[in-house]
Amino acid sequence: MTLPHFVAETPMFMPVGTKGTVKGLTSQQLVDLNCHVILGNTYHLEERPGSDLVQELGGLHKFMNWPRGMLTDSGGFQMVSLLHLAEITEEGVQFQSPVDGSLMMLTPERSIAIQNMLGADIIMALDDVVSSVNTTPERFEEATHRTTRWIDRCIKAHARTHEQNLFAIVQGGLNKDLRGISIRDLSARNLPGYAIGGLAGGESKDDFWRVVAQCTAPETGLPADKPRYVMGVGYPLDIVICSALGADMYDSVYPTRTARFGVALVPSGVLKLKNIGFAEDFRPLDEECSCMTCKKYTRAFLHNLVAKGIPFAAMLVSLHNIAYTQRLTRQIRTAISEQRFPEFVRSFVMLQYPIES
Ligand code: GUN
Ligand code: ZN
Repeated sequence: MTLPHFVAETPMFMPVGTKGTVKGLTSQQLVDLNCHVILGNTYHLEERPGSDLVQELGGLHKFMNWPRGMLTDSGGFQMVSLLHLAEITEEGVQFQSPVDGSLMMLTPERSIAIQNMLGADIIMALDDVVSSVNTTPERFEEATHRTTRWIDRCIKAHARTHEQNLFAIVQGGLNKDLRGISIRDLSARNLPGYAIGGLAGGESKDDFWRVVAQCTAPETGLPADKPRYVMGVGYPLDIVICSALGADMYDSVYPTRTARFGVALVPSGVLKLKNIGFAEDFRPLDEECSCMTCKKYTRAFLHNLVAKGIPFAAMLVSLHNIAYTQRLTRQIRTAISEQRFPEFVRSFVMLQYPIES
């Protein structure tokens, strides 16, 4: 996928730098870990320091000192995650700042204007996001059609079509008909890429994978010649399965957030470093990993930091977890190009879920 700042390979995982930083990591470390694209967030960056200031400083790339691909989310997801502070109408969504109580009105036009100022390679349309659990069918229907109405306002507002790629986001909850309508109506806009939204919010794996399969299905799904991005996905198993279904891009705070809880991602699953069993374990987190944490530190050392709540642990484990996720997506790409992806999927699943004898 050729972006203004980088030629990115897919399937790919994009670490999340919500407020202008991927927590605990420098941009040089992210380059060294072979990250192609990272994510920023419209709502959080507008709240502080403000898109006008970022623009004055030369755009988000320069502000964050990030030389490669960047994607900004529209603020739609914050409707769910900050629902108690948001009021959603046809005009847009109004947020009350959790910091000082001030109001921010995010319309499709405003979201795009902010993202035009931030200057990411990929910008996301403002979508009407509702939680896939605890929502009425009427609200899902409203959100699906509103997302389509809003895409036209986003397209009209987008002022930098040559420098920034606008992606639409499919909604429709877990309802097959609504998803179908959303896929059809958004595909008709012929945009450079598409995302699958409204997932990774507490629905069952079966429901989640069924919706992704519908959105990536040949003929009836999103265009196969465009990038297809499953939003909010970061569990290694989900990355593998969604890639098998035909998805290309993922983002999640999972690798860095779980690192802050002292959880390391390894080929067999996870290591909970708080466990006393690691106190005298002098092996690296993962023998196969070439990250700085695995080359220089033992599980025993990391256990000691985690047990004492020392922030350095979060940094070291975040570094490893991003390294792990990047290695996983690299293995997926290699397996696909060498035409042995089915075998890769089987051995990945067997390793994570061994058959007990
Ligand atoms: N992040 C995770 N899910 C979503 C979604 O449905 N919409 C947007 N805008 N961001 C997301
Ligand atoms: Zn490592």
